[in-house]
Amino acid sequence: MADLGFDGKVAIITGAGGGLGREHALLLASRGAQVVVNDLGGSVAGETAGATADPGPAHTTAKEIEDLGGVAVADVNSVATPEGGEAIVKTALDAFGRVDILINNAGILRDKAFHNMTADLVEPVLDVHLKGAFWVTRPAWISMREHAYGRIVNTSSNSGLLGNFGQANYGAAKMGLVGLTRVLAAEGAKYNIKVNALAPVARTRMTEELLGAMADRLDPGLVSPIVAWLCHEECPVTGEIYSAAGGRIARMFIGLTEGYYNPDLTLEDVRDHFEEIRSETGYIVPSGPHDEFAQLLKHFS
Ligand code: NAI
Repeated sequence: MADLGFDGKVAIITGAGGGLGREHALLLASRGAQVVVNDLGGSVAGETAGATADPGPAHTTAKEIEDLGGVAVADVNSVATPEGGEAIVKTALDAFGRVDILINNAGILRDKAFHNMTADLVEPVLDVHLKGAFWVTRPAWISMREHAYGRIVNTSSNSGLLGNFGQANYGAAKMGLVGLTRVLAAEGAKYNIKVNALAPVARTRMTEELLGAMADRLDPGLVSPIVAWLCHEECPVTGEIYSAAGGRIARMFIGLTEGYYNPDLTLEDVRDHFEEIRSETGYIVPSGPHDEFAQLLKHFS
């Protein structure tokens, strides 16, 4: 089969000055996309979130793409404010006239056990990951709706999907992105805008001290193929979540068990049928609230 290309497509990748974002940008550009390499150039903890810190990383990735024969512009605005989001999308519109692809990837970490998690650890993390996705996606969405085409990947994490010690701020933001993904998938359907979420694991500056012996196997470049597929015109899915690490790709999903029904339900019924309520036998993967209601209607009819 023919190789997959992105000729004529314009992609914004946030946080693409290094790590995963840089790999996504290099792959899309190598396949013909015109790329906006956004990165404010902050530290892992994002001390500089909200202001321009170091234009270096964005420009370095953009130059790398150009040196390889690709097309890229650097953008150093922060995703963490509405003005920053508007400015990032304006960079794409000014340079290339449209936005087809958005990869919300910019991120910071401020880990701490929950009892020590103060506002200065919570707010910037929500600002960059969760609100940042809102601020960049909204102006991009307007352009995508206008030409009835869009592909968006939101970078979530197993820290939120599965829970990880010391990451209440980050995990909540990352699971918030799953909610955003699901709602945008529903709203984007009639405009051919597909929105999916990614849960990556890779060796980057964010994780180099956390991955231990596995780090050597977790090349960030091995995450980019699934991201590029989710950004491709032929992508067949929307509203889904993919786990990607070291060359393994898998789907993660939200399931609904068959459950227990009793129109005269009491507290004791819940106790006595709890195993049945929890049983994974016969679970479904709802594509939206209508599938949950359909399960309920079976009992009502
Ligand atoms: P990284 O630290 O190499 O990349 C994050 C980039 O985002 C940095 O270049 C940083 O300058 C940029 N950034 C931070 N705040 C920004 C802002 N306000 N505006 C614009 N750019 C900003 O880390 P990595 O690992 O490449 O992370 C990429 C994404 O993947 C993040 O969202 C992270 O939470 C997520 N992730 C990474 C995992 C991993 O194993 N590396 C695991 C799960 C999720």
